[in-house]
Amino acid sequence: MAVVLQGFGAATALSSSDSLTSRKFQFGYLKSRPGFSEGSIQRARCAGKLIITNAVAANADSSTSSTASTPRLVGKGCKLVGCGSALPKLLVSNDDLAQIVETSDEWISVRTGIRNRRILSGNETLTGLAIEASRKALQMAQVEADDVDLIVMCTSTPDDIFGSAPQVQRELGCKKVPLAFDIRAACSGFVLGLTTAASYIRAYGYQNVLVIGADALSRCVDWTDRGTCILFGDAAGAVLVQASDGDENALLGYDMHSDGGGQRHLNAILKEDQTENVLSSTNGSALFPPRPSSYSCIQMNGKEVFRFAVRCVPQSVEASLEKAGLTSSDIDWLLLHQANQRIIDAVATRLQISPEHVISNLANYGNTSAASIPLALDEAVRSGKVQSGNIIATAGFGAGVTWGSAIVRWGRSFIQPED
Ligand code: ACO
Repeated sequence: MAVVLQGFGAATALSSSDSLTSRKFQFGYLKSRPGFSEGSIQRARCAGKLIITNAVAANADSSTSSTASTPRLVGKGCKLVGCGSALPKLLVSNDDLAQIVETSDEWISVRTGIRNRRILSGNETLTGLAIEASRKALQMAQVEADDVDLIVMCTSTPDDIFGSAPQVQRELGCKKVPLAFDIRAACSGFVLGLTTAASYIRAYGYQNVLVIGADALSRCVDWTDRGTCILFGDAAGAVLVQASDGDENALLGYDMHSDGGGQRHLNAILKEDQTENVLSSTNGSALFPPRPSSYSCIQMNGKEVFRFAVRCVPQSVEASLEKAGLTSSDIDWLLLHQANQRIIDAVATRLQISPEHVISNLANYGNTSAASIPLALDEAVRSGKVQSGNIIATAGFGAGVTWGSAIVRWGRSFIQPED
């Protein structure tokens, strides 16, 4: 299948009061015929300026040299063959939190199911946790770091705002220098990472993709806000997704969504520093250069997020099951993003899945965002709960808002190494 570029646009900030998301995107020239000739010149009028750009060759009938460096398209499946996880050392209990905000172990555990969480401290870093989780996943998969083709790190709280995946690649010692990049999709990140891994395997012939879910929301929490600070913990989890023959395919169905309209209920948004700008007259703009800015702490309307989750997650799991040609009675394990036990219970009830088939560990770790699914999977695999061949319905949901689900078959049971 050839890919045809049918339109393009560009944008510049119209004024310094524009936010990144509100900048105007203008299409100057939109083509809809089946293919452009190589090197053809397209013009886009953008924010009052004429931009000249070369269109990428996309002739549907000819094979071009632009695809020569990537593996050919292949119709492969993928399997999940290794997992690992890592946690910070510092354990913070509900009673500990009751020392800093007006709350109680009873209130937190009854409303959320959470009792403890782990928080990064001292010299610990999120990248360090991601590396530890990745090493364990590679060891279980019996795959050398050198054989990893792609590292996808799903996180909203990277140690480096430009992305942490390349640092994981470096520390793991992947000598072949695989592609490594971050995905930012909050608590849906890991499910999106899984589908991204499958896409790279199927479309480009990648063999071994490391999908990491890692987050340290403790960095974004207002520790004086009892409505949010009780919910979150830090952790990392990783899964090795490997190419397989089509009939061995383990990603049986998936379903992904986002709705920017829900952002008002859950966000940690950029806010401007209110200090006076010393160079305010530079370049004739009242607000240039931009003021130093930072992100707000997590702001959440808990009730709305709760309603969104119990409405959208079952619908998504049902859609994934339908795509997989399965029903909820075929599921061995329901493994949801670990946000709140009441959300997990409500979704399980709606899907008619009994508690014995539901994986939950949030009592020990709280909501660890993108890490929660691979962390719970890793515990369930290593404890022998999840066995090779088991069908797992997994779903993430969170800020954005984003949500999505995947039906996967776990590929390898864990054999405890002998001492
Ligand atoms: N301890 C004691 N009392 C509290 C606490 C606390 N920690 N937090 C809130 N309260 C009080 C409130 O002040 C309020 O008191 P009032 O009635 O006197 O005004 C009362 O308890 C009820 O507060 P609500 O916010 O209405 O409590 P609710 O029953 O909705 O529970 C909760 C709050 C646990 C946050 C729930 O709404 C929830 O879990 N929502 C989903 C959150 C979630 O899953 N977020 C995922 C985010 S993932 C991501 O992408 C970052």
